[in-house]
Amino acid sequence: MCGIVCYVGKNKAVPILMEGLKRLEYRGYDSAGLAVQDERHIDFFRAVGKIAELEKKTSGIEIKGTSGIAHTRWATHGEPTEENAHPQSDMNGNVFVIHNGIIENHQSIRKRLDKQGIVFKSETDTEVLAHLISLNYDGDLNEAVRKTMSQVEGTFGIAVIHRDIPDKIVVARRGSPLIIGVGEEGNFAASDVSAMVRYTNKVVHLNDNELATLTRDGFSISTAQAKSVTRTAETVEWAPEDAELNGFPHFMLKEIFEQPETIRNAMRGRLEKGEGVPKLGGIMPVWERLKECRHMVIVACGTSYYAGYVGRYIFEKLTEIDVEVELASEFRYQKLNFPSNTFIIAISQSGETADTLSAIREAHRKGAHLLGIVNVVGSSISRETEAGIYNHAGPEIGVASTKNFISQLTILTLLALLLGRHQNLSLTEGVDAIRALETLPGQVKAILSKANHIQAIAEKYYRCSNWLFLGRKFGYPIAMEGALKLKEVSYIHAEGYAAGEMKHGPIALINPGMPTVAIAPLDSIYDKMMNNIQEIKSRKGPVIAIATEGDNSLKEIVDDIIEIPPTLDFLNPIITVVPCQLLAYYCAGFLKRDIDKPRNLAKSVTVE
Ligand code: F6R
Repeated sequence: MCGIVCYVGKNKAVPILMEGLKRLEYRGYDSAGLAVQDERHIDFFRAVGKIAELEKKTSGIEIKGTSGIAHTRWATHGEPTEENAHPQSDMNGNVFVIHNGIIENHQSIRKRLDKQGIVFKSETDTEVLAHLISLNYDGDLNEAVRKTMSQVEGTFGIAVIHRDIPDKIVVARRGSPLIIGVGEEGNFAASDVSAMVRYTNKVVHLNDNELATLTRDGFSISTAQAKSVTRTAETVEWAPEDAELNGFPHFMLKEIFEQPETIRNAMRGRLEKGEGVPKLGGIMPVWERLKECRHMVIVACGTSYYAGYVGRYIFEKLTEIDVEVELASEFRYQKLNFPSNTFIIAISQSGETADTLSAIREAHRKGAHLLGIVNVVGSSISRETEAGIYNHAGPEIGVASTKNFISQLTILTLLALLLGRHQNLSLTEGVDAIRALETLPGQVKAILSKANHIQAIAEKYYRCSNWLFLGRKFGYPIAMEGALKLKEVSYIHAEGYAAGEMKHGPIALINPGMPTVAIAPLDSIYDKMMNNIQEIKSRKGPVIAIATEGDNSLKEIVDDIIEIPPTLDFLNPIITVVPCQLLAYYCAGFLKRDIDKPRNLAKSVTVE
């Protein structure tokens, strides 16, 4: 999705903006641009394709300005062309604007401005912002932006500069994230912390319908009604090296290999071993209501939804709470009627997913309490929920979510265990669960040490254009997640199915050219999985089994086996997903895909 980075300070802006744009590349984009101001002169450049194309355009040109705005665009209105890339400007080249989001009434504004003789140079909705701000400007840029905000409908995070006002950037947001970075040598604004983490870890989050003015020496925030707002900076824990490859060929692989540490980070300081009860400080503000809760709804999208799906089974196993899991994008079309004291749990890596945000807003309207499981500190979902638990997974840069999924599963387990221990779960069960949780990082590491074996399996099957992933109960969401991962990064068609559904249709597809990945650890439904595997084998379908170490009976039947260490049944998903991630990664590698930035995908889906 689109990305914003701005800087005003003591140093030349171009290298800082380019660095920031590169950090935003993972969000997905098709063109990029920047505008840099030096006194009353503005240089601006735009290019289709990678940031490297934009760098070519600026190379060899001396650009002295120390203040500027930069953007990566993911086309929504108009093709990915240079004319449609941002910044967009007014007719006189006074106002330059970059914009994330969608201006819904842009067509009616365009028609009105057309009649006034305004000539449009692009097909974008953003260009109307540049013209409106210019028309609304009479010496006060904040006022011009404020007035423009009142004239447009839709979502936006914008940054604006004006030729007459050097060293000042005005940013504003409604429904699209914008964060201010407070640095030693200048100040920043960005749609994502990772764009500025190299220069500062002090950040201030803008709320919807707020504007901020950035100068070299500081920033000020006000509302759309011109009321001044005081907000102090928070410190983010992410280190610059978190956003670097550190010798790995791709972020996806790096993040898969970080997973033992990701699990530790999700549990750090949260395990009370002796009592078998996790400690989760973030939910304490709602604890009295939460411990009485008997109905929960998990809402999320994509991989986070599959984590929620596993979560439902974990809650069923460990607590007395009824849990539903809903796709956030469908949730708000339902007739919502919650029993009293219902908690909604929103799960989101980015904390900015538009569908998930809309779902929690609707649930809040209907009286539900809101909890968040979010990775990005200070993100919209973390701020719009009453309480929550942070993943502490660090930045996830690969577009396909891997380590954050594992973190979400770990945190859902901690939450269910905490609630279960206040319900019927015994001390022994609690202590056993914590012991098993503590073993997980080592077990995941053991699977990662078999990466070469998994790569060899990928090499054997990557030419097959259709794959099936099967699982039951805890394995079913992993089958769906495994199929999603393969689709996303390798573009191979894959389906994730509940194994029990096989004979209701998908078995018709089985043939020697279609591999099935069977999630088949030794658990309570193992025998039933075994039956499904037999059904596939008797139709000559190749089977790759993800099976518990030492399971010799399965070894004899299947074509390939990936062994995993034994654990408690509700922790199996944390282990079984790892081979699926690696299979997807290596297939994508053999097919020479753009693994960290798969086509058409964005890391943070901030439009519905
Ligand atoms: C899949 C993937 C997406 C996200 C989904 C939700 O690999 O990354 O399916 O899981 O877009 O995103 P968040 O978790 O940021 O709400």
